[in-house]
Amino acid sequence: MTDVLRTRAELAAALGPATGRVGLVMTMGALHAGHEALLVAARERADLVVATIFVNPLQFGPNEDLDRYPRTFEADLKICRAAGVDLVYAPGPAEVYPAGDPLVRVDPGPLGAQLEGASRPGFFHGVLTVVLKMFNLVSPDYAFFGEKDYQQLALVRRMVRDLDLDVEIVGVPTVREPDGLALSSRNRYLAGLERQGALALSTALRAGADAATRGLDPAAVLAAAQRAFDADQGGARLDYLVLTDPELRPDPVAGPARLLVAGWVGDTRLIDNIGLRLAAATS
Ligand code: PAF
Repeated sequence: MTDVLRTRAELAAALGPATGRVGLVMTMGALHAGHEALLVAARERADLVVATIFVNPLQFGPNEDLDRYPRTFEADLKICRAAGVDLVYAPGPAEVYPAGDPLVRVDPGPLGAQLEGASRPGFFHGVLTVVLKMFNLVSPDYAFFGEKDYQQLALVRRMVRDLDLDVEIVGVPTVREPDGLALSSRNRYLAGLERQGALALSTALRAGADAATRGLDPAAVLAAAQRAFDADQGGARLDYLVLTDPELRPDPVAGPARLLVAGWVGDTRLIDNIGLRLAAATS
């Protein structure tokens, strides 16, 4: 049985008698197989699984897609039920922000000002603020975040470390379509040929990862990814393509690294990333 809770009082009442390990999966709804992977991971680890469904206005800029963001509550609920979620917390904005837009927000620091943060000012302040609020309301033992939003995952981990939060963050690998496109709620905006154009992102990442496997240096890895992006004639426009270390610090030299890409296809902004291992430099 999955209980649907709309207020923090209902949530507190449902969590009160709970015993055992609590797992939290935060979502903005429009659930797809990527979210299902988060729910499955939570079900495997936790005794009680809580999913939140809340389109967080705080993380949308004035010209972003808050109003057209897909809302598919009944379908989302079905997915939660099938995945064995115990509690769905689906509050409205006035329940989450009773005093209106919060004056105090979590500052994501320099890691949050780059990449997505550079293109979307205020985005990670909004994300981390709502994540911290939900952590406070649910007190989870584990919280599950997709690697697809890699910068978000890295920042949540960093917030937990820097603010001494008592929760274990579990990263869950990206789920992809058979042709490589990373699943995203925004994929449903892709019309006709745009779906093909969106493949430029994952194609670039694969080319970069292949180059790393062949032992090429960081500059050559990036160049291979860039060439693959440019060769894809689907009309995607690049925002950034960067190679970082796993904690998003720039200029990794050897060992584990992350290749991250963002771009627009038509009006839709997409992001993707891949883990790779850079060979030690030979001199
Ligand atoms: O990844 C998302 O869907 C959102 O950023 C999150 C974590 C649910 C916070 O609103």
